[in-house]
Amino acid sequence: MSFDVAKPLRTAALLACLAVLASPARAETASPRVEALIARMTVEEKVGQLNLVSGHHAVTGPYTRSDVKEAILAGQAGGLFNVYGAEYTRGLQDMAVNQTRLGIPLLLGFDVLHGYRTIFPIPLGQAASWDMAAIEGAERVSAREAASAGVNWVYAPMVDVTRDPRWGRVAEGAGESSWLGAKIAAARVRGLQGKSLADNDTVAACVKHFAGNGATEAGRDYSAADLSERALRETQLPPFQAAVEANARCVMAAFNALDGVPGVANSRLLRDVLRNEWGFGGIVVSDFGAVEELTVHGVAEDAADAADQAFRAGTDIDMESRTYLTQLPQLVRDGAVPMAELNDAVRRILTLKEQLGLFDNPYGRSNESRENAILDLAVHQEKALDLAEKSLVLLKNDRQALPFATGPQRIAVIGPLADSKPDTLGSWAAHGDPEAAITVLDGIRQVAGEGAEIVSATGGAIDRSSPADIAAAARLAATADRVVLVLGERSTQSGEAASRSNIDLPGDQMALARAVIATGKPVAVVLMNGRPLTIEDLDREAPAILEAWYPGSRGGLAVARVLFGLAEPKGRLPITFPRSVGQIPIYHDARPTGRPAGDTPKPYTSTYIDQAPTPLYPFGYGLTYTSFYMGPPRVDLGSLGPAQTATVSVDVMNTGERAGTAMVQLYIRHRIARVSRPVRELRGFARVLLQPGEVGTVKMPISAADLAFWQPDGRFAPPVAGAIDVMAGPDSRSLRSTVLPFRFRDVSPREAMNRN
Ligand code: BGC
Repeated sequence: MSFDVAKPLRTAALLACLAVLASPARAETASPRVEALIARMTVEEKVGQLNLVSGHHAVTGPYTRSDVKEAILAGQAGGLFNVYGAEYTRGLQDMAVNQTRLGIPLLLGFDVLHGYRTIFPIPLGQAASWDMAAIEGAERVSAREAASAGVNWVYAPMVDVTRDPRWGRVAEGAGESSWLGAKIAAARVRGLQGKSLADNDTVAACVKHFAGNGATEAGRDYSAADLSERALRETQLPPFQAAVEANARCVMAAFNALDGVPGVANSRLLRDVLRNEWGFGGIVVSDFGAVEELTVHGVAEDAADAADQAFRAGTDIDMESRTYLTQLPQLVRDGAVPMAELNDAVRRILTLKEQLGLFDNPYGRSNESRENAILDLAVHQEKALDLAEKSLVLLKNDRQALPFATGPQRIAVIGPLADSKPDTLGSWAAHGDPEAAITVLDGIRQVAGEGAEIVSATGGAIDRSSPADIAAAARLAATADRVVLVLGERSTQSGEAASRSNIDLPGDQMALARAVIATGKPVAVVLMNGRPLTIEDLDREAPAILEAWYPGSRGGLAVARVLFGLAEPKGRLPITFPRSVGQIPIYHDARPTGRPAGDTPKPYTSTYIDQAPTPLYPFGYGLTYTSFYMGPPRVDLGSLGPAQTATVSVDVMNTGERAGTAMVQLYIRHRIARVSRPVRELRGFARVLLQPGEVGTVKMPISAADLAFWQPDGRFAPPVAGAIDVMAGPDSRSLRSTVLPFRFRDVSPREAMNRN
């Protein structure tokens, strides 16, 4: 008997290839209306559709070049970005529809990364919730709000897998796991695009930055990435593929070079992988100015060469550099760029406009009464509160310092971030209203209860505190029964163009923490930051630490509710916290070594002579207000066959005194494969709410697809036979295991080995 798990994969890939060969990189189906339009368009009008112009409602790059209205009236803008507001966007659509020869409506884009008006936690914080329904729900709210303001296209989700916390943009992504990242990418696309793009409460999602942006060297923004095919396929690409499979209608080509070829000129990525392998029929937009930057990269001789390379590589839309506008018409006339390819790009763009319902109702989204009615709606704010609560990760809680009791007491809320409204919203906060944000200080005022007296001090600024600031804060702390210390980074210290070479707490905040902790009062530290910080000292000295990321509009209320036990901390880290920058990159699914360090590192093993090789807080880590016993994983099958799903069960008991939600994570490791496999790979998780003393069992599936990896012959497939360690536990480093043999083809053990 012979099982061939790889066969369906191969067949699907073959069919996709045949489809693409028959119609290279065409829009999926173009309607008669779109074809009729294309037939009427001049070359300039076609190229105009490929030009994307920045408006002035937000600044997201080093320049804005165009007068928006002139560009529309001249037929030189297929779309605008950094514009919003129902009245304003209605005016723009009106100009495009009624005052240009062809009357083609505009794509109107905006970076809606974690909310439009109602601001949710930053994406990294959302990822800490590991809650797909809540994330999808947040994106539904974001889409509904942005769409009511005329936005029909958002530059999200950002799905770069990020393993270098020096990079400020880790804040925008889902962390270091490609498996978790893929699930989140799909949830976010579903939430943004809703049931039908033609509905007025949806937006087209633009997944970014394709590809390798999360792996740029030295954590510096805009630097280059150099990835093996395996690292690209197994680590960076899965969330992009998941977003495409969830029907994301747009992909943004990255700034960075990958193996020497910048994203916008990377035909292997844009044509071979995205269009031909994955069958993507949507649009590809460049990142901001990236077409022109090809000359700065030193891969294009001049603007004409840049336009030629980017367009022919598969970049349909030029964001803000105007290189297509100035160069493509001549390139088409010279025959360097075939008219058929220009038509294909225009066809894709017009098809998206049609799918968005823009031809039939260009003003459907720009609806002032809906905008007024739904922005900041109470139910949206409730969702923001819910997701913020779920994103909080309890990093330390010595002797159950938390939760604090409510009731009559004096509480000192100290720190430069305790009452900072813009920082509570975080970076890329779209059209969020900082004034409406609930800070930690506000939140504590709301939940501390009858008779509580709240006092506060900043203790200085984020970047600098004077000895007098610190002394005043410590004096105030000494008068209190309990202290909440809110520390971290300014929101502009993470996000785009905010790489840091040192990821300690900025300024004198550690000195502030020491002075406050030295008062001997019960102190809980709340951290607000867009990336993992190196906080080994804080971890040693503070009794309790709650990671709050930038928690969004209702963030301070969420923090207060968790600090005072009205909600439980449920978040788990989606990214490793290193002890020092010297450990970077450090992540859970590293490759093994022939000389593992073990628990007590020996000489000549893979460690440091000046520091442990282990993280400060591992991937998947997060405490609760109770304690759990987790049993070893059990698998219901003796061996896994090709069409089977094994169920992994783990018994969990709440051994503490409070009700709480346990989260069990499931990892696998291939015992033997010819290409060494990561020491652990996340493949599942499950939660169970348990009362004190209660026992429950969680179940998680494993099937052949979970065992697949990138094979030397260029496809994802599991080995034909072998065994995996099935590991389960509360985080990526506290795992118990069992073995699961598998056999997907009837081969001898030696043959199996040679085929793995
Ligand atoms: C960023 C993108 C963003 C674009 C438009 C660029 O600088 O890299 O993520 O979507 O600006 O604002």
